Amino acid sequence: MSWELGLWLLALCALLALVVQLLRFLRADGDLTLMWAEWQGRRPEWELTDMVVWVTGASSGIGEELAYQLSTLGVSLVLSARRAQELERVKRRCLENGNLKEKDILVLPLDLADRSSHEAATKVVLQEFGKIDILVNNAGRSQRSLCVDTSLDVFKELIELNYLGTVSLTMCVLPHMIERKQGKIVTVNSLLGIISAPLSSGYSASKHALRGFFNCLRAELATCPGIVVSNICPGPVQSNIVKNSLTEEVQKTVGIDTVQSHKMVTSRCVRLMLISMANDLKEVWISDHPFLLITYLWQYMPTWAWWLTNKLGKKRIENFKNGLDADISYFKTWKTKHD
Ligand SMILES: NC(=O)c1ccc[n+]([C@@H]2O[C@H](COP(=O)([O-])OP(=O)(O)OC[C@H]3O[C@@H](n4cnc5c(N)ncnc54)[C@H](OP(=O)(O)O)[C@@H]3O)[C@@H](O)[C@H]2O)c1
Repeated sequence: MSWELGLWLLALCALLALVVQLLRFLRADGDLTLMWAEWQGRRPEWELTDMVVWVTGASSGIGEELAYQLSTLGVSLVLSARRAQELERVKRRCLENGNLKEKDILVLPLDLADRSSHEAATKVVLQEFGKIDILVNNAGRSQRSLCVDTSLDVFKELIELNYLGTVSLTMCVLPHMIERKQGKIVTVNSLLGIISAPLSSGYSASKHALRGFFNCLRAELATCPGIVVSNICPGPVQSNIVKNSLTEEVQKTVGIDTVQSHKMVTSRCVRLMLISMANDLKEVWISDHPFLLITYLWQYMPTWAWWLTNKLGKKRIENFKNGLDADISYFKTWKTKHD
């Protein structure tokens, strides 16, 4: 074979690889490493059994669905959030649908913003189950208000809850994991912990802070390779997050249900979360396009991303001012994907 033919073959292979990657990307609803793990990686059904998993924010949305999916895997569950009644409802459904018995599920009401209660709560879990294999830092609230209209108290509240609350609980669980030299700290961050968008300045700041914290923690735990620190970054997912979002004032939430059919269904997001946990992925992005594409641009081509975010940001603000979900439609073709 002449060297020219060899070169042509090499170029053809490179082109083919590029086309395959492009097709994978267009079909993806998560970053390409996560998509690979879903196809070829370890299954949650093999990896996550017999574990003690503590889920915060388990009374609604992503945390609630996570409890249901975990309950079918044979784990022991600790369900935390502020509303005990809602947690009891989730527990009952876990027992109805899953493989668990009453003794396998502990309902542990917890206010993440009340940091003084975290140490005692951790002790209760350890007394009940003797270990914590996975801490899922999921509880959190979002924001829908323009920066200029927003009281400083809202920024403070978001940092207290999303950032300091999560850090505080992690710090209580961490010594136990270090002692056992194993464990997973899984934090439900957001694409807004990587990119930024109008109406979410305080939320985005709190999630950027979390990402910075956990990336540092992972590096500090390099001598303890049995402890895995994972950042899960979803895009828009069906839940009560928008309804519960803070607005210009701390006491004022969005309060109304908006149409959610354009968002990823909660069960799909949670399935991908379980795959990332089973495969110890350090950071995953879970989202449909265009949010996934925009996140890749923020990561690899920020100048283009800033330009595009300014364009789409106008639509986001317009949607919000019209009483719609801020992300309801940027491009009509994406709108009905999950209808
Ligand atoms: N849905 C999305 O589009 C999306 C996208 C990216 C990231 N996320 C992240 O996903 C996580 C879960 O949100 P979600 O979408 O499932 O929203 P959600 O349906 O509103 O659920 C939020 C959960 O957090 C709990 N929570 C709120 N404040 C709390 C506090 N002070 N102490 C303890 N628990 C508290 C809530 O329970 P109580 O009210 O009973 O306390 C609830 O269980 C959040 O961290 C959010 O930032 C969501």
